[in-house]
Amino acid sequence: MIPKLQIALDNTELASALESVKSVGDIVDVIEVGTILYVAEGSEAVRKLRSLYPDKIILADIKAADAGSILAKICFEAGATWMTTICCSDINTMVSALDVAKKYDGDIQIELYGDWTFEHAKAWREAGLNQVVYHRSRDAQSAGKDWSEEDIIKVKKLCDMGFKVTVTGGLSVEHIKLFKGLPIYCFIAGRSIRDAKSPKDAALEFKAEFKKYWS
Ligand code: 5RP
Repeated sequence: MIPKLQIALDNTELASALESVKSVGDIVDVIEVGTILYVAEGSEAVRKLRSLYPDKIILADIKAADAGSILAKICFEAGATWMTTICCSDINTMVSALDVAKKYDGDIQIELYGDWTFEHAKAWREAGLNQVVYHRSRDAQSAGKDWSEEDIIKVKKLCDMGFKVTVTGGLSVEHIKLFKGLPIYCFIAGRSIRDAKSPKDAALEFKAEFKKYWS
């Protein structure tokens, strides 16, 4: 299956996020209210994007660490389709968020940062969680961390465990081929689409690249 394309709106103001999404909203499969935008503008960003894009998957990237059901209710009532929890949160946070998500036909993604283990991943699967986001952190990238063979091996193992795996973190079109042969569910691009001279062309280039390696 061809991976989905998600744009991450990590703008610091809603007006600039709406400007960023204008030319690509109809091309991408998923629109992300990034953590930065959520902190800046709250659920209003989800509400506005839901009203503009009623048929799109909208992700509330809040990286919830606790109070799973309360935060999930806020996100899904505002119109989110998916919401993120952070991998170091208690499994009860993830499960309680998932219980709420199901009431809205939504889903929960676990954001993988830092020191998670495959023991944790096994427990998440057993608890009914289906989606993970394999993340090269923005700050690790700034400090010089590149994608490596170790990342590909871990992504493959997560796919083999049955997770729908999303990949993100400073992705450019050139990175996509590193993941060929793996059933990647979704790739997220933020800065490489938002900051491109033509965001629309950048989004179309990602999609064309997906078609080269997946069918
Ligand atoms: C940061 C995020 C970003 O939304 C994600 O990494 C995509 O953005 P970019 O392509 O600009 O790195 O979750 O916490």
